[in-house]
Amino acid sequence: MSAPSPASAQGQAAKASPIHVSAVTKVFKTRTGDEVLALADTTFKIASGEFVSIVGPSGCGKSTVMRIIAGLMEASKGAVLLGSKVVTTPSPEIGIAFQKAVLLPWLPVARNIALPAELEGRMAKAEIDARVDRLLEMVRLKGAGGRYPGELSGGMQQRVSIARALMTEPSVLLMDEPFGALDALTREHMHDELLAIWAANRPTVVFITHDIAEAVYLSDRVLVMASRPGRVIADVPIDLPRPRTPDIRGEARFAKLGAEIRALIPH
Ligand SMILES: Nc1ncnc2c1ncn2[C@@H]1O[C@H](COP(=O)(O)OP(=O)(O)OP(=O)(O)O)[C@@H](O)[C@H]1O
Ligand SMILES: [Mg+2]
Repeated sequence: MSAPSPASAQGQAAKASPIHVSAVTKVFKTRTGDEVLALADTTFKIASGEFVSIVGPSGCGKSTVMRIIAGLMEASKGAVLLGSKVVTTPSPEIGIAFQKAVLLPWLPVARNIALPAELEGRMAKAEIDARVDRLLEMVRLKGAGGRYPGELSGGMQQRVSIARALMTEPSVLLMDEPFGALDALTREHMHDELLAIWAANRPTVVFITHDIAEAVYLSDRVLVMASRPGRVIADVPIDLPRPRTPDIRGEARFAKLGAEIRALIPH
């Protein structure tokens, strides 16, 4: 027998960073000089490897808080900590799926997906190709690797951008309504694929959605935001057992949690 392997060899390598959004305020100046208080003194924590969804009415600051966590936008006040580090710039540790698929139109689908790994320079070409093939299959786009973004439907483009976010197996995954443009069945397939990836790699996940059932199915906790000013008004633990399987959608506890969250969302 070989010697006991170190933790890293057993798939328990460096733990995913926790996220601490600490008293973040974001003020936007509009072109007319008015100020929009998109986030006011917003504080929440997400533990290492936790799956947290954010729900709330349109315009309550969900995408804004995600961009600040991603290091793509500066807070007007307050800070975001990733582990013990204050976020100031985008980090390779973070994978992002944006609300609108942002793909490079001059690159075929496979190259769009491979891009983060090519930029990182850690994986060999053969490994990149094999991983792109697996991801294409996972997002049900097998055989579409040679097509260009402009030749795909909106839902297909969204799936390419999800595959790209997963390319480097990021330890922090930020997803802004990633399944918004998908049909119901593909969406349910993607829920189970995402949960399988999460169970295997245990990234810290922030998942923004308007779909309450989706938030309940996927998450450990659901944060509810309100607008004017944007802030977190409730934190609902989802005490459903894991692994989650589709039959859970029919259970009374699932419906009760959904109803509870719905009642908390201001409308
Ligand atoms: N670049 C910007 N300049 C000015 N105002 C902005 C800017 N980006 C966002 N806002 C404003 O900040 C507020 C929050 O926007 P944000 O995009 O974060 O909302 P959201 O919760 O993601 O909404 P949705 O559910 O519709 O995606 C809105 O009032 C929006 O108009
Ligand atoms: Mg948004």
